Amino acid sequence: MNTAESFTRVLHERHSVRAYRPIPVPPALLEEVLALARLAPSGANLQPGSFIAVQGEVRRAMSADLVQAWRHQQQEAEDYSYFPDPMPMALKRRQMASAKALYEALGIAREDRVGRDAQFERNFHFFEAPVALVVTIGHDLGSGCYMDLGMALYGLMLAAQAHGLSTCAIGAMASYPSLIRRHLSLDSTSKIVCGIALGYADPEAAVNQTRTARTEVGEYFKTVGEG
Ligand SMILES: Cc1cc2nc3c(=O)[nH]c(=O)nc-3n(C[C@H](O)[C@H](O)[C@H](O)COP(=O)(O)O)c2cc1C
Repeated sequence: MNTAESFTRVLHERHSVRAYRPIPVPPALLEEVLALARLAPSGANLQPGSFIAVQGEVRRAMSADLVQAWRHQQQEAEDYSYFPDPMPMALKRRQMASAKALYEALGIAREDRVGRDAQFERNFHFFEAPVALVVTIGHDLGSGCYMDLGMALYGLMLAAQAHGLSTCAIGAMASYPSLIRRHLSLDSTSKIVCGIALGYADPEAAVNQTRTARTEVGEYFKTVGEG
């Protein structure tokens, strides 16, 4: 397989994994994947953002508090806005299609609120992945730096995939930035961007059969002017 073929394969094979085998990830491998992620370009090479591996009792206590906060519908001001409110119908359709793919893989019916909530809670446990990362960014950085960090996040996902690991970004974490800062002893200069679950995919888990589609190139690409 040549370079283009193997890279294309990594791109196609990466997908969000929401169930993991209970096998530890060697620390050196995690560091290698993070270093590869940091090869991402960034404006003026600022390399914004940080990754925090959350382990042991800190992870257990933080996850427990996140679940409680969510169950009690506690509201926190988010550090940054993600989704448009209201969501335009064209985007809503994509959001609904990704949720449908997830719940169909799990065999959870649309009206099964309990089943959907149980799956949602798993976000706050980092899907029991052996590696739980919290991604932060400086409070004074602009939208461009979020774009830079996003490139590093995709670099992380692809590097992980190429090394036999899987990932899932967890935007749900961004709903509770103060709670997370408290558990990680961070001050308000760190904004909470998302969580990342990382580890070896459980191939038997139904949830990992979830696959999403992409829009056609013609929907987001056009040519203007003479060729
Ligand atoms: C920044 C970001 C945040 C995400 N947050 C969540 C999340 O909170 N929970 C979840 O189950 N999936 C989450 N996802 C996964 C998306 O649902 C997934 O990437 C999308 O449906 C496309 O599917 P794929 O990753 O399998 O290709 C997130 C993805 C990204 C990039």
